[in-house]
Amino acid sequence: MCGIVAYIGEKQAYPILIKGLQRLEYRGYDSAGVALLNGGTHIYKKKGKVGELIDYAKELSHEGNIGIGHTRWATHGAPDDINAHPHTSGNHRLSIVHNGIIENYALLKAALEKEGHVFESETDTEVLVHLIEEIQKRGNLPLEEAVRIALTRVVGAYAIVLIDNTDPNKLVAARKASPLVIGIGEGEYFIASDATPIIEHTKKVVYLNDEEIAMVPRYGDLQIKTIDNEKQTPFIHELDLKIEMLEKGGYDYFMLKEIHEQHTTIADCMRGRLNADEGWVRLGGLEEYINRIINANRFIIAGCGTSWHAGLIGEYLFEDLARIPVEVEYASELRYRNPIITEKDVVIAISQSGETADTLAALELAKEKGALIYGIVNVVGSSIARYTDAGSYIHAGPEIGVASTKAFTGQVTLLTMMALVLAHKRGTISNSYYQQLVRELANIPAKVQKVLESNAMVKYIAGEIKDRPNALYLGRGYNFPVALEGALKLKEISYIHAEGYPAAEMKHGPIALIDDQMPVVVIATNRSAYDKIVSNIQEVKARKGLVIAVVTEGDEVISKIADYTIEIPDTEEPLTPLLSVIPLQLLSYHIAVMRGCNVDQPRNLAKSVTVE
Ligand code: G6P
Repeated sequence: MCGIVAYIGEKQAYPILIKGLQRLEYRGYDSAGVALLNGGTHIYKKKGKVGELIDYAKELSHEGNIGIGHTRWATHGAPDDINAHPHTSGNHRLSIVHNGIIENYALLKAALEKEGHVFESETDTEVLVHLIEEIQKRGNLPLEEAVRIALTRVVGAYAIVLIDNTDPNKLVAARKASPLVIGIGEGEYFIASDATPIIEHTKKVVYLNDEEIAMVPRYGDLQIKTIDNEKQTPFIHELDLKIEMLEKGGYDYFMLKEIHEQHTTIADCMRGRLNADEGWVRLGGLEEYINRIINANRFIIAGCGTSWHAGLIGEYLFEDLARIPVEVEYASELRYRNPIITEKDVVIAISQSGETADTLAALELAKEKGALIYGIVNVVGSSIARYTDAGSYIHAGPEIGVASTKAFTGQVTLLTMMALVLAHKRGTISNSYYQQLVRELANIPAKVQKVLESNAMVKYIAGEIKDRPNALYLGRGYNFPVALEGALKLKEISYIHAEGYPAAEMKHGPIALIDDQMPVVVIATNRSAYDKIVSNIQEVKARKGLVIAVVTEGDEVISKIADYTIEIPDTEEPLTPLLSVIPLQLLSYHIAVMRGCNVDQPRNLAKSVTVE
């Protein structure tokens, strides 16, 4: 949700900023802009994607070895050229890029207007830079001190970087609840919302913590202090990312690449944690708190979007296998509904980015109430990963397509391993069933590869239904959350209205929508309740709905009733979501491509939602 990038050093800043913005475009693409210092300040900003900024700035001067850049997901003010970042102070001395929301901006703006400040945009960001200017002017303060004082007056979330055209030898950055990473090169520094713009320049990074301000000098060492003016020693991390992970690798879209990576990413998630020959699963993250976890009163799983769907599968896994009561909550609801959470609870946050503002806030609440908090996160070093008491990374590698695919299967793999560890320790499943599930989980990557071979069939079905305005997704048990996820994927990237339902609930409402125009995708791989699903399909066919069924290889009953069937290899029922979701990801991908949609950057969405 808004991407920030900044550079100071000996090189030309513009190409570094532009490439960085392209890497961060998944965070928002309503507008893009840069500010460069070269004598004075040169600002180029444009509504739309980074490509439009590049075209606009083609003929203009790009000189300067210090600069800041921004790609925006609009919150305050329409996505147009004026509201695009960077914004400047009234005296045009300071320029700022900002990710987050200044909640008390209206009050601050009114006070500044009284002092004679005039605003050009509708953004909260412009108010912040005017506030910093006012403080700097009054006390004749260095920029970092003016920023620090201004931030004590601000309510909300921010990651900011500023430049001052009277001092081209430093960048000033600060964060609260929005991420910021500082890359340390040879005689140069980089700042960005995540490590992806930095990785090709240096592997040494410092993650800024909440309420910290960094003074990033052209010459000399990085200096960090807190908003309370306490000096901090920067902790340098070594990045473990490869540049190929950030490229499309011959695929038309990142989403397609990420769908096809899943046999590898699931295997990576299990690497060193599961041994099929010896029949065990271990998760290092669980060990320190294992007694507290196996004796928990209940688990509360919190997440948003696709991660919430993975959480629902977690509920089936933990209850079915480990017999631990589970509640799954939208993080945004959990935090605002005065929930009952005690020290006997374990709150599990699921998040691909590790930066989702609602999930982070729900964790803060859970921590306050004394619960143990556990993170299931993809992005290494992200805010949620650092905030939790314990946790496990899913190791899916960078996910760039806005619609989540490989992170979902990584989350489900991790939850499955966690449920197996807990079930084994609690003695809630027999040793032979445990061994069987461990062995079968190890077979999943090969089976995923097999499912991917259905791509041509799925593409054909996509062509048949691409122009239908609605779609219904049905599933039962472990595959009910997969139905929700399939519907979400279709909505997100093809803009077709889709609903996911537990198959048996169809008769309580959605059945009224079924006619010969309604495609109904049924996940019918369950061994339990198989006959019931068959009846549900009959009910759809009786109303002339078009049935697309995902079935287990060799199924002869459903293939006779359904209009189209997609086969997946047989597996243990708790593991079916890892296979059944893949044709649904492919279906939405092909439909979106056929409808001319930008699959990786769907309208109005952002990958990392760092505002409430
Ligand atoms: C956004 C993304 C979704 C994602 C959700 C939660 O809405 O577009 O793909 O599932 O945020 O994100 P998280 O990073 O916490 O998993």
